[in-house]
Amino acid sequence: MDNNSNRRTFLGVCLGGLGAIAAAAVSWPLFRYLAPHSGGDAAGKVVIPEKDVPEGEAKFFEFAGSSAVLVRKRGGDLVAFSAVCTHLGCIVQWEKDKQDFLCPCHGGHYSADGAVTAGPPPKPLKRLTFAVAGGNITVG
Ligand code: FES
Repeated sequence: MDNNSNRRTFLGVCLGGLGAIAAAAVSWPLFRYLAPHSGGDAAGKVVIPEKDVPEGEAKFFEFAGSSAVLVRKRGGDLVAFSAVCTHLGCIVQWEKDKQDFLCPCHGGHYSADGAVTAGPPPKPLKRLTFAVAGGNITVG
């Protein structure tokens, strides 16, 4: 084997390794973003200050080992949902300008009330119970 062949082999191995590292660096955060969360405090309640959920905004948080979201709709009504899409389990996003939820995986849409408005989700977002007292929202 000559020097050029050894150099090519070495460069090929180095580039292959760098490619594998780059692919892992890109795909891991994407996987973590799209996958539902697991584990966590399954029995606990979550307390969120009311001021953290202004009108027209959504507040995402961890609840019972998964993602959940509180929304203060325009007009002031509060609603709480599991943020897990009922199609294949991706985490929905709040679209403030449209006042609805988008599932980034297959384009499912839900209204601010959690009802399916477009796309493949078969059921509405799961509602969560909550209580408001003393300037705090307690979910669960
Ligand atoms: S997982 Fe949400 S639309 Fe498919």
